[in-house]
Amino acid sequence: MNPSSGAPSTSGWLPGSPRTSSGARESYDHSIRAHRRQRCRRLDQRRLAAYLVSRAPSDFAFDTIPITDLPVYSYDLDPDFPPAATAFKKALVDHRQLLFVTPEYNRSIPGALKNALDWGSRPWGDSFAGCRAAIAGTGLNGAGSAVAQAHPRSILGYLQVSVLGAEEVCLPWTDGVLHSPRMAELVDAFWESVRAALPD
Ligand SMILES: Cc1cc2nc3c(=O)[nH]c(=O)nc-3n(C[C@H](O)[C@H](O)[C@H](O)COP(=O)(O)O)c2cc1C
Repeated sequence: MNPSSGAPSTSGWLPGSPRTSSGARESYDHSIRAHRRQRCRRLDQRRLAAYLVSRAPSDFAFDTIPITDLPVYSYDLDPDFPPAATAFKKALVDHRQLLFVTPEYNRSIPGALKNALDWGSRPWGDSFAGCRAAIAGTGLNGAGSAVAQAHPRSILGYLQVSVLGAEEVCLPWTDGVLHSPRMAELVDAFWESVRAALPD
């Protein structure tokens, strides 16, 4: 509330906002911050995914497995799988090495990704078992989606997927970050780890 007018105010500090020299939180206008986030949304995971693919070993080939058409998982749909789920599960059977590139939503993965993992897990023992996976992502905060990335490690472990430990790509997003030499080094080390983890 705005104490002077009694009207709702859009100003305030958010957790993680910078502190001033006196230690107080800087005030943000939520509408401006929301606008900044909206602009960032167009930048992150797809650009990171494209960058990762561009630096991958030349004998690696990639397909994108769509998940956005999957309905919300329900036991009720098991007897008559929707076409999007059938296609998703076939893609998992055809691709035994998976690269997840995920944003962080409220310190976890987006619900759409968890929903896809749920679809792939049913019927139990199908689809994911025996896959190998690596996870990457970028976020707006300093942890670069690291908190989100911890969650699919746990889920995929339960689904009998072998998940690459290190090198990690947890990228705090900044303008131009994909053009830095350090980024190229990081991604090259990531792919070296992926190759080392694959069977001969
Ligand atoms: C519902 C929601 C929750 C979010 N939570 C976090 C968060 O916990 N940590 C973070 O770094 N960014 C968070 N963000 C910011 C997203 O990571 C950021 O918008 C990112 O660019 C989304 O990636 P995308 O454009 O590939 O969807 C959140 C965004 C949304 C929409």
